[in-house]
Amino acid sequence: MMRTHTNNELKKDNIKEEVKLCGWVQSRRDHGGVIFIDLRDKYGLTQIVFDPRHNKNTHAAAEKLRREWVVSVSGKVRDRKEGMVNPKLITGEIEIIVDDIEILNESLTPPFEVENNIETNEDIRHEYRYIDLRRPINQERLLVRHKILTSARAFLNKNNFLEIETPCLIKSTPEGAKDYIVPSSTHNGYAYSLPQSPQLYKQLLMAGGCDRYYQMARCFRDEDNRADRQPEFTQIDLEMSFVDQSDIIELGNNLYKEIFKACGKKLSGKIEIVSYSECMNKWGTDKPDMRFGLEFIDVSDIVNKSDFSVFNDAINNDGVVKCINVKGAAQQMSRKEIDKLIEFVISAGGKGLAWMKYIEGEFQSSVVKFFNEDVLNELKKSVDASNGDLILFIADKLKRTNNVLDQLRCKLGKDLKLYSDDEYRALWVVDYPLFEMTDEGKIEACHHPFSMPKAEDLKLLDKDPLKVTATLYDFVINGYEVHSGSIRIHDPKIQKKVFDIIGMSKEEVENKFGFLLKAFSYGAPPHGGFAAGVERLVMIICGSDNIKDVIAFPKNKNKENPMDHSPSLIEKAALVDLGLDLNNQTKAQLKKKG
Ligand code: AMO
Ligand code: AMP
Repeated sequence: MMRTHTNNELKKDNIKEEVKLCGWVQSRRDHGGVIFIDLRDKYGLTQIVFDPRHNKNTHAAAEKLRREWVVSVSGKVRDRKEGMVNPKLITGEIEIIVDDIEILNESLTPPFEVENNIETNEDIRHEYRYIDLRRPINQERLLVRHKILTSARAFLNKNNFLEIETPCLIKSTPEGAKDYIVPSSTHNGYAYSLPQSPQLYKQLLMAGGCDRYYQMARCFRDEDNRADRQPEFTQIDLEMSFVDQSDIIELGNNLYKEIFKACGKKLSGKIEIVSYSECMNKWGTDKPDMRFGLEFIDVSDIVNKSDFSVFNDAINNDGVVKCINVKGAAQQMSRKEIDKLIEFVISAGGKGLAWMKYIEGEFQSSVVKFFNEDVLNELKKSVDASNGDLILFIADKLKRTNNVLDQLRCKLGKDLKLYSDDEYRALWVVDYPLFEMTDEGKIEACHHPFSMPKAEDLKLLDKDPLKVTATLYDFVINGYEVHSGSIRIHDPKIQKKVFDIIGMSKEEVENKFGFLLKAFSYGAPPHGGFAAGVERLVMIICGSDNIKDVIAFPKNKNKENPMDHSPSLIEKAALVDLGLDLNNQTKAQLKKKG
């Protein structure tokens, strides 16, 4: 047996026991000839003592020890001396006096300390990720991920779902990013795509009579990395037959309850269901952080009656004026602090920020002079102003107003500590439009093109597709989109119509999705589902704002892995084999040459 205990197990009860421990040297201290090391494994730390009066040989061996050397020690558990107890450690009352030590491996000087609070550059940490992963905070993140996956599996198994794997070498599944492609050596010039999601396959499983499917699905998307986006990630992907949206909402709520419980956390408050349009009106985003208020109020109709040209001009220019009432912040926010908010708004893409303080029955601000009493009274009612409130206004086109005010709202929520870090609030956003218009004037599917229009909107498909609402829903926790899903189209005629509206030719449809339409023609059941981003759940539960923190081996902003330096240059022989050689020397051509 290499070890009798791990490094967070031994306590007073074990005193006098002979034990064997393994681990890494966290630190080495020499106190008047007696050497102490903290021995670390993923479970914790134990203090090890090398005393020359006890054993000369082990003491001599300990003199060589350095940080991150891997050792095995045998010895006896003993009480720590008076005043030497460390209440912060589970093993803080004892230490091991060593009889034997074996050095299992040496280590070069590590580029950073294996401690939670280090300031080492991220690329260096990720180059030495195997050292970085030894830090307790990273072990905790891996554990949370494990708990999310295992609790989700247990819940779904209990609810009659079957875990089914779908292929990774596939025809393209569009989710709005570019595909990663894998050239075929059998079919020169042809390639598989890696799945952006298992969307089409899970729908085909429903056509295959599987009724309830799930998969911890690896997804691959070639798009710009963001703080919550990586080129490869995992979805808890599920699909159900013969369900409507309310069945899925109920299942989702229960699933997340279990996941949070397994991680020792709780989603607080009622999980509201809000329509996309209400959501955009109130929070300017479809992923609002529900832990605090600061809802938007559209005051365009009121302030348009003022003489404040900044507001009038914005409204006359097809824009709006929206505000938030920061309750009780008037005293707290000095002129200087408001100026900082104005700077923030401008750096966030806004043109400016107008403000009013409501103090002792009066609005105070340099712009109040442009508002007559009636308008101010109306405004007071509309924003529900009471003593000490600070009202912040943005005037611009609707899209920009929403975007800037959303950023300002999130900043204020954080700066004014309007929520606690251990609070989790969720929201379903439903009734998204099926289509949206791109800046280039093209109609695109708002999510993916497989979502079912609301029954009452089917007739609008021909007349006014941009007005069609889809049975499409997102789930949001603390301002992050955690999952997205929909009830799907199972009728080939409707599916063809949707492809037509987004401008796909018959040939393109046949080439890309002919197999799906064929399946729908052989009795596909009504079905729907969703896919939750595992890494986003880990981020939220661990309180991290960087997806790279919660992935064992993440890619950097250039989509490289700083440890193995992937991607690597394709070797010439492989290029030839795959028919991708720059000189066009395909395998077939080479063969011909003999
Ligand atoms: P969607 O594209 O919205 O939907 O993805 C679902 C969820 O996956 C997570 N996610 C990501 N996580 C990390 N890095 C990324 N690059 C990334 N992209 C997405 C998010 C997101 O909410 N097939 C549909 C789902 C369905 O309709 O059932 C789909 O993939 O948490
Ligand atoms: P100005 O007339 O540009 O000096 O602006 C007067 C006040 O209105 C300043 O406090 C500006 O920050 C603010 N302001 C300017 N543009 C906007 C805008 N688009 N929305 C809200 N406030 C604005």
